[in-house]
Amino acid sequence: MSRARSQPAAHTTEFARAERAAKSILARTKLRPRVAVVLGSGLGGFAERLAGATRIPYAKISGFPRPGATGHAGRLVLGTLDDVALAVMQGRAHLYEGYSARELGFPLRVLGRMGIRAVVLTNAAGAIHPDFRMGSLVLIRDHINLMGENPLTGANDERFGPRFPDLSHAYSQDCRQMALAEAQRLGISLHEGVYAAFRGPSYETPAEIRFLRTIGADLVGMSTVPEAIVARHMGIQVLAISSVANAAADLQNQGIDHAQVLAAGALVEERLTALFRAVLPRIAAEETQ
Ligand code: HPA
Repeated sequence: MSRARSQPAAHTTEFARAERAAKSILARTKLRPRVAVVLGSGLGGFAERLAGATRIPYAKISGFPRPGATGHAGRLVLGTLDDVALAVMQGRAHLYEGYSARELGFPLRVLGRMGIRAVVLTNAAGAIHPDFRMGSLVLIRDHINLMGENPLTGANDERFGPRFPDLSHAYSQDCRQMALAEAQRLGISLHEGVYAAFRGPSYETPAEIRFLRTIGADLVGMSTVPEAIVARHMGIQVLAISSVANAAADLQNQGIDHAQVLAAGALVEERLTALFRAVLPRIAAEETQ
């Protein structure tokens, strides 16, 4: 079974592999970032704004899953934004590409071993909440995992975190309040909502969207949840922001396509960058105290 193949070799633990990858990354830069950013579909442009950047293709980092979807560069960029050191994942892989949730969590393991204490996860999502429009920015308040997989399945390594991690505060309230305050100061509209994750790659049917609305979801997407769970397992603070690419399937009748999702990314880039400029230094200041 493919699952058996994706398990780490018995003689090297995930912890040892994460530690080794973290050391090899840190050997290439003098920066010691405490904050990481994961850039989702069509949102990779932010990584080009970092100064003094070291760019490492995922292919050069042992164990990093490589994204196949267009709109995902597949590079780890270490650099500074207004003197704040950041580790930025320019693109991510997805469950629908055939990776397990555990494999998708490995980059977060590596970031954690590098000393990252807070991560900002971004994604493109479909809007279920009627107030959300294409190009809206939405803070994820909570998630519903409908991916049929959990990245912590299998043996637990206590060096990462506990067997049964608490997810009652998965998305840091402090970070969300900070983001809302900065958005208000900048005059950027920032909503809040619950993100439901399916594994994809097909978009949802109208009946599935009605189901999601009934169970309390405001957004739907195909990523973020495995990373958020792994981050929380390691005690890393999580802030997550969705960029609305389209209205979900039952709210429109012209269909959804990936090109539209990427185009929506360009629409939000300026606002997202302004928000990052305001929020990331504040998060970094908290995490280096
Ligand atoms: N559904 C799931 N994932 C998505 C969507 C959607 O409508 N839009 C962008 N990513």
